[in-house]
Amino acid sequence: MSTLSLLPLAKPVASTGFHISKDQLTIIVPVAVAAALGTYLLCRYVNKKSCKKSQVNKTINKDSSKVVHSFDIEDIGSKAVYCRCWRSKKFPYCDGSHSKHNEETGDNVGPLIIKKKDA
Ligand code: FES
Repeated sequence: MSTLSLLPLAKPVASTGFHISKDQLTIIVPVAVAAALGTYLLCRYVNKKSCKKSQVNKTINKDSSKVVHSFDIEDIGSKAVYCRCWRSKKFPYCDGSHSKHNEETGDNVGPLIIKKKDA
């Protein structure tokens, strides 16, 4: 008997190029799950830190803790147009700046119009 006949026969196997054993899976799966969970939690933490919700009021009375205007209904006259986009240079009145804002942002804001009923 020759020594060649003692060697295990090499089986010609069509190579799939990738094989993972059960033992390897018991390590890979928990590591992959832990990595995915860690990435998700890290992204949430980073986004929470860096992405504050944007402010509506960019310029008006920024030194005040709250911007409030009050009018007596008798003083309004027959019609008043109030800004709701916070871009007006005549705030709290609308000066038409909402049009530019809508054009630039794709928003759809407009003024609040208060008027007396036609008699
Ligand atoms: S300018 Fe703000 S609603 Fe018109």
